[in-house]
Amino acid sequence: MEGNKRKCSVVGSPITHSKSPYIFNSTFKKLDLQYEYIALETRNPEYIINKMRDDNYRGYSVTSPLKVDIVKYLDKIDPLAKKIGSINTIVNDDNVLKGYNTDCRGAIASIEEKIDLKNKKIIILGAGGAARAIAFGLKELTSKILILNRTLGKAKALAKDLNCSYDLLSQSQIGDCDLVINTTTVGMYPDVNKSITIEFTESCTVMDIIYNPIETMLIQRAKKEGCSIITGEQMFINQAVEQFKLFTDINCPKEIMNQAFWETIN
Ligand code: ATR
Repeated sequence: MEGNKRKCSVVGSPITHSKSPYIFNSTFKKLDLQYEYIALETRNPEYIINKMRDDNYRGYSVTSPLKVDIVKYLDKIDPLAKKIGSINTIVNDDNVLKGYNTDCRGAIASIEEKIDLKNKKIIILGAGGAARAIAFGLKELTSKILILNRTLGKAKALAKDLNCSYDLLSQSQIGDCDLVINTTTVGMYPDVNKSITIEFTESCTVMDIIYNPIETMLIQRAKKEGCSIITGEQMFINQAVEQFKLFTDINCPKEIMNQAFWETIN
């Protein structure tokens, strides 16, 4: 990295699929900003926090599996992220590390572009950091939320925080519901031939927050069943635009990051 540039990184594991380095670097370049963005592969929150301080990183985009576990290492936490209990962004202001959650608004905006969420029956697959952010956002709009997760204890903990229902993913059947959202990492590159095995009816909208690939196996199955679909890239771009502002203090037009995203696909 060049010494005079402010450093940012996406942190988590796996990370090789991430489009964030290209999108952020392309946007920094277009806006002529002296920032540089890399990918750091790690599952160790303590290591990555020490690295942020030691190497003076300005910002991190935090991804799976660190979004919940890293919270306790931060100096400060934004009120929305505190309520949610997970973060996806860290900003380093003179060695004071503050966590934010930009997944929540990013996800809700991407869903509301497609459907009216008010009073809808929603099933969330997964109970990790991303599930938390989305579930807390949805809670403002509907009380009919069911959390399904492979590890029952995590589903129970999230359901308790939200005051909603929960069940074990493998034992559950999808009854009538308006929207199913996959927040698990199943089907993400490189395991593109995997999918959570659930059945859905055609009246249901199916969303996958995975954006690599854009059409996951789950989304392909939903299309075959005649369901409406919501793919993950708009949530990804929305949360990145908000993150960009936190890193640089500059409002980036969404179209610039949107364009950069599609450059990585075509
Ligand atoms: P993120 O920050 O992206 O939400 P996370 O906090 O690591 O990532 O959460 C990943 C989610 O994917 C969890 O709900 C996890 O289930 P567990 O709580 O049982 O670990 C889910 N997940 C990951 N691999 C899975 C698999 N093979 N089958 C079902 N669920 C899986």
